[in-house]
Amino acid sequence: MVRTKIAGIGKYLPKTIVKNDDLQSVMETSDEWIQERTGIQERRYGIKHEETTTTMAAHAARTAIERAGITPNDVDFILFATLSPDYYFPGCGVLLQRELGITKTTIGAMDIRNQCTGFVYGLATGDQFIRSGMYRNVLVVGAEMHSMGLDYSTRGRNVTVIFGDGAGAVLLQPTEEADQGILASKLHSDGTYAEKLAFINPGAHGGYHNRYLEEAVDYGYGNDAFGGIFLTEKMIADGMTFPYMDGPFVFKFAVQKFPEVIQEVLKEAGENLSNLDMLVPHQANLRISQFVQRILKLRDDQVWNNIQKYGNTTAASVPIALCEAVEEGAIKRGDLVCLAAFGSGFTWGANLLRW
Ligand code: COA
Repeated sequence: MVRTKIAGIGKYLPKTIVKNDDLQSVMETSDEWIQERTGIQERRYGIKHEETTTTMAAHAARTAIERAGITPNDVDFILFATLSPDYYFPGCGVLLQRELGITKTTIGAMDIRNQCTGFVYGLATGDQFIRSGMYRNVLVVGAEMHSMGLDYSTRGRNVTVIFGDGAGAVLLQPTEEADQGILASKLHSDGTYAEKLAFINPGAHGGYHNRYLEEAVDYGYGNDAFGGIFLTEKMIADGMTFPYMDGPFVFKFAVQKFPEVIQEVLKEAGENLSNLDMLVPHQANLRISQFVQRILKLRDDQVWNNIQKYGNTTAASVPIALCEAVEEGAIKRGDLVCLAAFGSGFTWGANLLRW
């Protein structure tokens, strides 16, 4: 039976380290508050004008491609997960193709808009392409340059302190090995809470979804057929062009959905928790990971956490954490590994694999 294996993995973290105290110099916050609520000590920011979501993805992708023993031109398909794309359109997939110097046009490139769950969705999608026989070398990337789009005033502190920049990538290939590869994936969504964690403006909504907002404001979107606008001066003046998060609401949902989907994917593959060697959860908040660990009764060495160093890098967090765990020898060939994520949408999901 053909399965999909991760033939190569890579990560990239920009060099600039931003500590909690650095944020304290521009907004009302404190190292104590941030560490107590999130576990985060520092995060990385890309260098403006030199680094973007795409360039960071390219660094991670080159490592994954090299470790798989192929060259960029051997890649058949790119799946790019991000919520902080370089352009509104075209997506980062084609920009990554160009950045990697892939000139052949038989390749396909697709962007995934599933925020923190983007990489888990991407892995499940790439797995289908490989198992169907359509492609042999699928590159799945999660990358974010959050630091370009955050509100650095006290108004944005509940969101801004959490997020960091970075990228992770895997190169998927078919394998006939019985003890290796992706065993199962489970994907979920619930659009009821779309606005609980969202980046709403600028957008083409024209106020249509206002009934779902806690505070709906008319930003003067225009009423005639030719008058609609994405971005108004009032949006900018009101600081409505930044991410919004109802933190406590997201927290409650996440701690319920993480354990559920982990159990589900194990069941789908006929495995159980006692066989799990490593859980690599999306690095949303250390408190969420600890909560999930307690509910599932996992030991410390069964859960990989690195949010302390990198913050929440949304679509990049799972591949960065997986790559780090592999590089540090915490995941070895044959280990049963579960990747799980929850995020905006809401969307959530998990992949179970044998390394
Ligand atoms: N520094 C200092 N104070 C802050 C702050 C900051 N960075 N951010 C918020 N606060 C304040 C609030 O203004 C509020 O003050 P008030 O009581 O005077 O109104 C107080 O801290 C509590 O705010 P609240 O939002 O209720 O805090 P919380 O205990 O829920 O923690 C989060 C906030 C964001 C850390 C927490 O809700 C969380 O982690 N949620 C999940 C977020 C997440 O995982 N997002 C990604 C999903 S993939």
